[in-house]
Amino acid sequence: MSEQLIKSTIAYVKEVFATDFSGHDCFHTMRVYKMATNIAMKENADLQLVQLAALLHDVDDRKLSPKTCENKDRAVAFMRGQGLCEETIAQVKDIIGEVSFMGTDSVVPKTLEGKCVQDADRLDALGAMGIARAFAYGGNHNRIMYDPEMKPALNMSKEEYQNHVSTTVNHFYEKLFLLKDMMNTESSKAIAEHRERYMKDYIDEFMDEWEGLK
Ligand code: ADP
Ligand code: NI
Repeated sequence: MSEQLIKSTIAYVKEVFATDFSGHDCFHTMRVYKMATNIAMKENADLQLVQLAALLHDVDDRKLSPKTCENKDRAVAFMRGQGLCEETIAQVKDIIGEVSFMGTDSVVPKTLEGKCVQDADRLDALGAMGIARAFAYGGNHNRIMYDPEMKPALNMSKEEYQNHVSTTVNHFYEKLFLLKDMMNTESSKAIAEHRERYMKDYIDEFMDEWEGLK
């Protein structure tokens, strides 16, 4: 991807997320961009497609921009403005459409490039970053951290998952601990394993402290 195109895309993403309070921010996008680049190089994927899709993957997110989510209008308009060819635009649009976690309705991306971007986005929900994001999201949505009476709901469909209200600790079981086994590439699996171990150790500590044991 040309230096100039990267610069313009980053500037665009910063502008889009400047006014967002839905829990997405441009730093998440930048981490996904860096991780997707790292995975794509190891997997020999097409870097331009991966980098463009990673940078634009959340600009039409359902929570951030419900009206443009279906057809990825903002990402498409941006790419047209940059003079990219229709084939590239269609490929990036497809990749973005496949990224989201939707419970048991999540899809496996058709292309290697889509797999790299989906893995990078999901890795950002794991590890130290994942813990921080989960509690930040919970606080932002007025959710309590934990309630031992509320049990996690497993095997949720897209609709159930999107309408489900729960605690932040339950989110670890309802989404985060499912991600490791959903990784598409070998490079991502190794990273996911490390990040999940770290989170599981964190939850063990959390439970011990909850009971006043440590
Ligand atoms: P993205 O589209 O970037 O993958 P989401 O919009 O699904 O992510 O979520 C943003 C972040 O907030 C992720 O780290 C996710 O794990 C976290 N999150 C989403 N839903 C919840 C929830 N119900 N409780 C706690 N954290 C959540
Ligand atoms: Ni994302």
